[in-house]
Amino acid sequence: MKGYDFEGPALELGALVRDDGTADPSARVRIPVRMMNRHGLVAGATGTGKTKTLQLMAEQLAGQGVPVFLADVKGDLSGLASPGKPGDRIARRAADVGQDWAPEGRATEFFSLGGVGEGIPLRATMSAFGPTLLSRVLELNETQESSLGLIFYFADTHGLPLLDLKDLIAVIRYLTDTPEALSGIGGLSASTAGVILRALVNFQAQGAEAFFGEPEFDVRDLLRTTRDGRGMISILELPAVQERPQLFSTFLMWLLADLFETLPEVGDPEKPSLVFFFDEAHLLFEGASKAFLRSITQTVRLIRSKGVGVFFVTQTPKDVPADVLAQLGARVQHALRAFTPQDAKALKATVSTFPASSYDLERLLTELGIGEAVVTVLSETGAPTPVAWTRLRAPRSLMAPSAPAVVQGVIAASPLLPKYGTAVDRQSAYEILAARLARQQEPEQEAPAKRPADRPERSERPAGAHPGSVLEEMLASKEFRSLARTAATALGREITRSIFGTARRRR
Ligand SMILES: Nc1ncnc2c1ncn2[C@@H]1O[C@H](COP(=O)(O)OP(=O)(O)O)[C@@H](O)[C@H]1O
Ligand SMILES: [Mg+2]
Repeated sequence: MKGYDFEGPALELGALVRDDGTADPSARVRIPVRMMNRHGLVAGATGTGKTKTLQLMAEQLAGQGVPVFLADVKGDLSGLASPGKPGDRIARRAADVGQDWAPEGRATEFFSLGGVGEGIPLRATMSAFGPTLLSRVLELNETQESSLGLIFYFADTHGLPLLDLKDLIAVIRYLTDTPEALSGIGGLSASTAGVILRALVNFQAQGAEAFFGEPEFDVRDLLRTTRDGRGMISILELPAVQERPQLFSTFLMWLLADLFETLPEVGDPEKPSLVFFFDEAHLLFEGASKAFLRSITQTVRLIRSKGVGVFFVTQTPKDVPADVLAQLGARVQHALRAFTPQDAKALKATVSTFPASSYDLERLLTELGIGEAVVTVLSETGAPTPVAWTRLRAPRSLMAPSAPAVVQGVIAASPLLPKYGTAVDRQSAYEILAARLARQQEPEQEAPAKRPADRPERSERPAGAHPGSVLEEMLASKEFRSLARTAATALGREITRSIFGTARRRR
């Protein structure tokens, strides 16, 4: 098997299967590690071995010093933290494919979205998330989006920190009750405010509240390696994500935008800085907004030069938007079913996406055994390798969920727990406005306004102090210039988000 003999470090997927169905352990099917930032797809019917392929790739990447991030929807990837269980079946498979199998767990971190499920909570502040991304998530039109931008700007220049969802809701309510506050910097119509408010309340009902707030997650914590040079495997536990798809896509848009902005440009490095795996990726795309699909497509295209690889794991290639599919270098296609006419159509469609080969792929794809796949990857020169019928190696980590005590132990011992474990709800827009309201309602008991230490100086500025257009004010104002200096990252984020957000207008 010529095409799979690469020089540099590679992931060992398995052994080539001969036409008679026996494996040839001397013909190894591999992916060069340096091509892992060229993205990939693992597809196949339920129970054919997709998740185990993901596990195999993740543990080998980590073994070669590459950090991995994966979204675990079914809870079966926590096994990466525990050594596998030896047994006859694994021994047979290992002998069959020429694998030197030994049980071995990996260094892992477990995360949850804002404390839903088990793991260190991942959070972002509302202001870091920004109006552009939020507009995408809420599917706002351009008018509503610019109004939202105005609301963020108002809050920022009036000392009303937007940390969580209730801060933003409080500011919008304040602005609809006090329309004169915005005079001089353009208006916010009551109907637009109403639309945004309703969208936010719906979003809140999906559990978004838990995601927004402090302490904010630093994406660089996903890029860690252990003292012995292994990549950390970060597992996001996503139980019941089906019921909260908007929350998941929100998080993902934030994470990818943030990584994009944080990581330096590296071109095509020797090995990736991070590899993402999305198991059950159809959940990501099903019913997703056009804006979200655009962001994902754009991100997948651009993030490669930051050394980040993205692998989608799903039932059929059709689950992945065509624009994304076209950018995926590696393909690991497990068995497909051909029970119904729709199945047959999907099968034909899948076959047509593979390069020509000597296999009768339409037949082979329905006859592949469990833990077997048809593989084509990019060689070190970037050319697709020949299609290879492959029997995959067995993961060395546990092919079942880790015991709850193991997961809890990993979380308890994590250096990230003290950093992110406890939500902080410091004084922000909601509290400030609530206090203001309380003072207005009880004027005789009015207490002297106390400025908290973390409240910025610019909060003293009265509303609508700068006449003129919004843009003029933004560019000219002292607040804006100091914002640009002191909050370079927040601004950078906004710019990144604008890049992701402008695709629609360019098209
Ligand atoms: N590479 C492999 N090595 C050993 N067993 C495997 C392998 N791939 C799949 N299996 C077996 O098949 C079962 C189903 O695999 P899984 O990856 O969970 O399927 P899918 O994710 O496609 O639904 C596993 O529990 C395991 O017993
Ligand atoms: Mg699976």
